[in-house]
Amino acid sequence: MKINYANSRINAKQIRILEKRLEPERARLIQAAKTEYLDDRASINLCCDKTMMKTVKKIIQLTQSLNPVYLVVVGIGGSNLGSIAVQEAILGKYYNQLRPKLQVLYADTVDTDAMNAVITLITPALKKRKKVILNVVSKSGSTTETIANFEVLLDVVQKYQTKYADSVVVTTNKNSKLWNLGVEKGFTVLEIPEKVGGRYSVLSPVGLYPLGLLGINISELLKGAFKMRSNCLRPLKSNPAAKLAMILYAHYKQGKTIADLFLFSNGLEGLGKWYRQLIAESLGKEFNNQNKRINTGITPIVSVGSTDLHSMVQLYLGGPCNEMTMFVDVATNKETIKVPKMNEFNELVPGIQGKSLKVIMDAILQGTLIAFKKTKRPFVTLELANKKPFMIGQFLQLMMMMTMYLGHLLDVNPFDQPNVETYKIETKRLLK
Ligand code: PA5
Repeated sequence: MKINYANSRINAKQIRILEKRLEPERARLIQAAKTEYLDDRASINLCCDKTMMKTVKKIIQLTQSLNPVYLVVVGIGGSNLGSIAVQEAILGKYYNQLRPKLQVLYADTVDTDAMNAVITLITPALKKRKKVILNVVSKSGSTTETIANFEVLLDVVQKYQTKYADSVVVTTNKNSKLWNLGVEKGFTVLEIPEKVGGRYSVLSPVGLYPLGLLGINISELLKGAFKMRSNCLRPLKSNPAAKLAMILYAHYKQGKTIADLFLFSNGLEGLGKWYRQLIAESLGKEFNNQNKRINTGITPIVSVGSTDLHSMVQLYLGGPCNEMTMFVDVATNKETIKVPKMNEFNELVPGIQGKSLKVIMDAILQGTLIAFKKTKRPFVTLELANKKPFMIGQFLQLMMMMTMYLGHLLDVNPFDQPNVETYKIETKRLLK
């Protein structure tokens, strides 16, 4: 991955001051890397957990032997955003329409119409006695939406399959109520390490099981994450996660409280939504680490190039200077598609005839960067060589470790989400 900080508009002196502040956090991360799953930062060790990988691969093999035609992932927030992000980045947004052997559906919020569509899609397969796999993912094992959706879907599966236990894979904390129920019912259960929080769990069985089942090379995903982990533990001068964190923080302190991830690849939009949760839940905090009320947070937003140039960029370039942008683009596509040479179109947009869509996209990106420079808007660019698992694994790890460094700079706990818990408790009270 190539990262260019040249237009960050943060000077070397500012970075040197912040480096001093970040050093203790780097030391803590280095320590966490030696202690498996004991520390809150434990998610950085998922990428080298061979036992976990072996277990997940074994379960994937067992599931594959059933020849399933649908995989329904039931989970919300940290329990499904990572899987959607990686699936879309690697297999594309049109994966299901390309009619693979195994289609994937996601059930997150409790939306009657969306659930009805899921049921409508899986029912013909169930009627034909084909296997539909339900992968219910919940760290706590007690999220209202997830359990409601799971019950609804389990009921549908039970109607058509007398032997259905092998169709259910539960991913949760060991000994959660859901874990115990899964064991009791004979479902397959996969463990999320206690110290790995929801939004940091994509490289645990939460993401690995569904992604591996869809044929994604999950070993490569973890290898990429491991490589990036090493980079992000390096001395701060050459540490990409720390460098990005310092730039975002320095801007935040100067009033640029919005961090836009501007993805110049349609398939990466899901990664944007995953990033949004990661930043918002980790850094948006009422209290600091000394329990003093600070109401802090960086507001993450997601833009997709070039689509959002026709929607948001007027604001980004002409509006208040309150954003820092991270552009992400992909150097190579799987295929090359060229605009044909049709003379009658030459007048409409000169200069595109015979050119590949990639060349046109690159010109749009370069044009955008020039416009950002001209209006003195700060940005960095991240170039992914491709959208293969190794590269996506790197990106995930980079963003997660950047968030940990940012948590330290903002003096907040990036691993809890006390205010989300409030809504969960209130909802349960109302429904009781
Ligand atoms: O990151 C988090 O911790 C949250 O977004 C959770 O992932 C989300 O609330 C779902 O919780 P659970 O996995 O316990 O069902």
